[in-house]
Amino acid sequence: MKQDRLKILVIDDDPKVAWILTEGLSGSFDFVSARNGSEGLQMVTTEKPSLVLLDIKMPDMSGIEVLKKLNKIDNRPEIIMLSGHDDTHYVVESIQSGAAEFIKKPFDVKEVEIHINGVLEKNRLKREVSTLKTELRTRSQYDSFIGDSHKIMQVKNLVEQVAGSELTVLIRGESGTGKEIVARMLHNMSGRSEESFTKVNCAAIPRDLLEAELFGYEKGAFTGAHKTKPGRFEVANKGTMFLDEIGDMPMELQSKLLQVLEQQEFVRVGGINTIHVDVRIICATNRNLEEAIKLGRFRDDLFYRLNEITIFLPPLRDRSEDVTLLADHFIDKYKKLYQREASPLGPDAISQLTAAPWPGNVRQLENLIKQVVVRGEESIIADLLAGQSVSTENVLQPVGATSVQNATATPPVEKDYSLKKRVARAVSREEKGLISEVLNRTNWNRRKAAEILAISYRSLLYKIKEYGLNEMK
Ligand SMILES: Nc1ncnc2c1ncn2[C@@H]1O[C@H](COP(=O)(O)OP(=O)(O)OP(=O)(O)O)[C@@H](O)[C@H]1O
Ligand SMILES: [Mg+2]
Repeated sequence: MKQDRLKILVIDDDPKVAWILTEGLSGSFDFVSARNGSEGLQMVTTEKPSLVLLDIKMPDMSGIEVLKKLNKIDNRPEIIMLSGHDDTHYVVESIQSGAAEFIKKPFDVKEVEIHINGVLEKNRLKREVSTLKTELRTRSQYDSFIGDSHKIMQVKNLVEQVAGSELTVLIRGESGTGKEIVARMLHNMSGRSEESFTKVNCAAIPRDLLEAELFGYEKGAFTGAHKTKPGRFEVANKGTMFLDEIGDMPMELQSKLLQVLEQQEFVRVGGINTIHVDVRIICATNRNLEEAIKLGRFRDDLFYRLNEITIFLPPLRDRSEDVTLLADHFIDKYKKLYQREASPLGPDAISQLTAAPWPGNVRQLENLIKQVVVRGEESIIADLLAGQSVSTENVLQPVGATSVQNATATPPVEKDYSLKKRVARAVSREEKGLISEVLNRTNWNRRKAAEILAISYRSLLYKIKEYGLNEMK
């Protein structure tokens, strides 16, 4: 099969070089050429070559300077330096600045071809490895998150769209619908995947200990605080913090959490110093937070802050198409785990499972399949299902409530997934917060602030105006 021919750009003030290469290697590559650095830089953008052969000594701009400018381009082509001089310092500087090879002139055309092929092959492998890594990461995440119903596909899309952002995500859904799996997926598919994923279950830690647990404490802050202890937020620095059962967070801690969300800072219990952390927050709840706000048990400002990106996990009864896939997945999982023989479920079993109401959602299905695999009897499914009843326990409940009046009320699904608008709003808010923080820190020294923010002075002035920021005198 004839492969697409690769384009090579020769940047050399001596036209003979491009001519010799074209003569000798036009059977293998397409050559384009530039006679100086600035023309070469332009052609990298317009011609999009796979590789650049770059002369070091040129009148307008040295090859090393061109190389440094090319380094600023995303996905720049590979670069091989050419030079009539092979002084060590040229070679070292070229390689240190990111050139793939250094070839001394005069060269043998065949030798150049070998170098070109070697560099291109290395580059191809590098790209392949990185694509495979990303694919593997995404696929292995999806492999453990089963379901291909329309509703689950929407969840997967949303996860993919927001995972890489720094946005706070609120995951909602009844108990057992997979909120924790989604939180872990968001972390594993984010730029923080190499850092820690810290989970704190706000409902599992006694109220009076939760603050110290999350934010840490100073020695002597309370009886028994014999030494200073950093909290989970500090330990989670650079990683992701998963606040599970956020609906159970006491009111008095909610304002402290809001401060972490807005400024990424807090003070330890009994402390005076502000501690700065870089943590991405993901929250989950099966509570009806809107109801909790009405009852005065959840701060509305915190809710709006958390609710910017909401991923709603539908109950299993609303996506019965997924039941068979999930059941097969769990059979496979427990077959391996308990080293049992187990064949796929028969049509009777499948129809019973598909029709069941699953008040405990996927967790309940998983437990049922586990028992079927362990006991090796499909016939127990009917009995196991008969033991279940549709409980309202699971349905999104207001904080502190024991039952829900209308268990079938439509859960607060995001009516539309107009992610773009939400993301834009969230980005603006982040931007405004960051700009005002830096301006305050630099005492409104706009030039310094622009430098820290790595934007131009003019853009900063524009943004100050756009966001209506005012210097407090
Ligand atoms: N789509 C899915 N694919 C595979 N396994 C799933 C899926 N959804 C849930 N599970 C499994 O079901 C169990 C419950 O899921 P998870 O703990 O994420 O639920 P949850 O929504 O956090 O529940 P809770 O509100 O009770 O904490 C876990 O063992 C999880 O692995
Ligand atoms: Mg959970």
